[in-house]
Amino acid sequence: WKTLDDMTLAGKVALVRVDVNVPMENGQVTDTTRIDRIIPTITDILAAGGKPVLLAHFDRPKGQVVPAMSLAQIVPALQAALGPVKLHFATDCIGGPAKTAISAMEAGEVVLLENTRFHAGEEKNDPMMAASLAALGDIYVNDAFSAAHRAHASTEGIARLLPHCAGRLMQAELTALDAALGAPTRPLVAVVGGAKVSTKLDLIGNLVTKVDHLVIGGGMANTFLVAQGIEVGKSLAERDMADTALAILAKATAAGCTIHLPHDIVVARQFKAGAASDTLPVGDCPADAMILDAGPQTVAKIVAVFTQARTLIWNGPLGAFEIAPFDAATNAAAQAVGTLTIAGSLVSVAGGGDTVAALNKAGVANQFTYISSAGGAFLEWMEGKDLPGIAALKD
Ligand code: 3PG
Repeated sequence: WKTLDDMTLAGKVALVRVDVNVPMENGQVTDTTRIDRIIPTITDILAAGGKPVLLAHFDRPKGQVVPAMSLAQIVPALQAALGPVKLHFATDCIGGPAKTAISAMEAGEVVLLENTRFHAGEEKNDPMMAASLAALGDIYVNDAFSAAHRAHASTEGIARLLPHCAGRLMQAELTALDAALGAPTRPLVAVVGGAKVSTKLDLIGNLVTKVDHLVIGGGMANTFLVAQGIEVGKSLAERDMADTALAILAKATAAGCTIHLPHDIVVARQFKAGAASDTLPVGDCPADAMILDAGPQTVAKIVAVFTQARTLIWNGPLGAFEIAPFDAATNAAAQAVGTLTIAGSLVSVAGGGDTVAALNKAGVANQFTYISSAGGAFLEWMEGKDLPGIAALKD
């Protein structure tokens, strides 16, 4: 794939696919990370004399015009991130409003087009929709790694119609992810947590063939414990997935991947802040209690694995991190990764909505080598899938 450095941008309208699908509450953007991370691409296009026109989706309006999902809402936050650069908004991403806004653009200005998903052709990857978008500009820049798992008109179809390249954020994502899983320095360890095995089967199945160590935490660890005949009381566990879990353990052994499950557990009878909890050896979970976190011995063993490792990739919390004290294992393990990364012994990459929230809560997100801006796309990439938005950029 090409980058902005390979393109002639002077005087050209660059259609830049960005992902500004940011969390909002009461009309205010509550986390501007995705907005902040597209600024280098916009700045570099402007510096090269190009005219950046931003294409983006927001939420899931399913081909309808839903005013509550208008990108007009993010204009104040985007304008604030752009500083003195003037931002214009067009009320439709194709046709008259888009054309008028683009032709009125002065050098040094930016246009944001309305939600691409207001048109049914976007998610259908309708060639007519892709052609209507492509007609607006000269060059296509994809800076939306986090939407690259969608084969939509603005992420895939349009790349077939215009000279194209990766934006700076896309470039950073692909470079970091390749260093983590494409051509990593070994030993390579993956940390996978979260509630259910069933939603991360493809992920675990792919990782055991690639990593040297796989740490499994969160609710999904319980399913592996049950599969091995260990009782987990009232814990979240997918008992019908026991055979699948055993098959994964066998696949890991055959591939030379060591799987790490909890040795000790933190249990409680209620999942609420400050609930009375006990730390017990795995296997001692009372019938009326739930496992809500990994214990300190488990953390010590995991940290010993991290200390030997050279590359680490993380998706999913180790316990019910939203509520203290069940965030202890996630926090301690994340802090160890942060310290090892800063000391220079570990390349650490993390992604996924919950994961980034957990690392932010642990106060260590800025110590990791790279934090992906993607949720679903990061997961699909970790599953070893070809992302259509990336495939189109390579062609
Ligand atoms: C995301 O928030 O992960 C991306 O913007 C993709 O959104 P989607 O799941 O609605 O396609």
